[in-house]
Amino acid sequence: RTVYVNGEYLPEGEAKVSIFDRAFLMGDGVYEVTSVLGGKLIDFAGHAKRLARSLDELEMPHPLAEAELLEIHRELVRVNGIDEGLVYLQITRGAPGDRDFVYPDPETTTPTVVLFTQAKPGLADSPAARRGMRVISIEDQRWGRRDIKTVQLLYPSMGKMMAKKAGVDDAWMVEDGAVTEGTSNNAYIVKGNRIVTRALSNDILHGITRAAVLRYAAEAQMEVEERDFTIAEAQEADEAFITSASTFVMPVVEIDGVTLGDGTPGPRARRLREIYLDESL
Ligand code: PDD
Repeated sequence: RTVYVNGEYLPEGEAKVSIFDRAFLMGDGVYEVTSVLGGKLIDFAGHAKRLARSLDELEMPHPLAEAELLEIHRELVRVNGIDEGLVYLQITRGAPGDRDFVYPDPETTTPTVVLFTQAKPGLADSPAARRGMRVISIEDQRWGRRDIKTVQLLYPSMGKMMAKKAGVDDAWMVEDGAVTEGTSNNAYIVKGNRIVTRALSNDILHGITRAAVLRYAAEAQMEVEERDFTIAEAQEADEAFITSASTFVMPVVEIDGVTLGDGTPGPRARRLREIYLDESL
């Protein structure tokens, strides 16, 4: 696989980053995951815009213009022959010579830029989407700026492990009694013709897939309500689902051991997945 590091395209085994990189030492980096379907990048502009916002919120310089980033994404998809999969992009504050809590001067430290691809055949025609996911709820113990897409992903990793140990697919995080989001996705419930999902704030990541799916839901005459919901309300919902760049729309059929409806993916989740894939391909 060919990867991109600081201006160079290299075989993955030759790519190197400093041990002083602040993402390595302090989690001081941001990232984006853009999916690829039929060799095409999905919603690149949305991801580039969120990346710019993450960098601004952390007072990091923008090392590359959007057009340059797009060119690197396209080149990696091309050289690695990605039909279905994703492009991972990470920008860190760079590698000053020492470990220091204070940000280094951006004049003297250049950001580290890394991109690589992951092939994921069967991403669109996924057996998990036909079956539906099972989730457990866990306490949301992340930091308070979840709107910034940082590489500090230890708690989401712990959450995925809790789900794995419980024999299910993922975890929904709960704070002050309300669901925030999934470990790496936004969470939704469906009641009748109404889609309910938490409103945007610093408490959750502003999903690019979320924005598209809420638009498609409205266009398909579904009602959209952006508000808090509890696990108890979710367990009584008609349907549930998650969204992310790596799963698109994925139905949820069980929450903390309680089966939703007849235990198969609901019609609105299936419809939204279908619309999302149609619009993306
Ligand atoms: N995760 N919420 C969280 C906490 C996420 O990590 C993600 C994405 C989302 C969905 O955002 P989007 O629709 O823009 O992908 C919501 C990516 C896919 C990841 O970490 O791999």
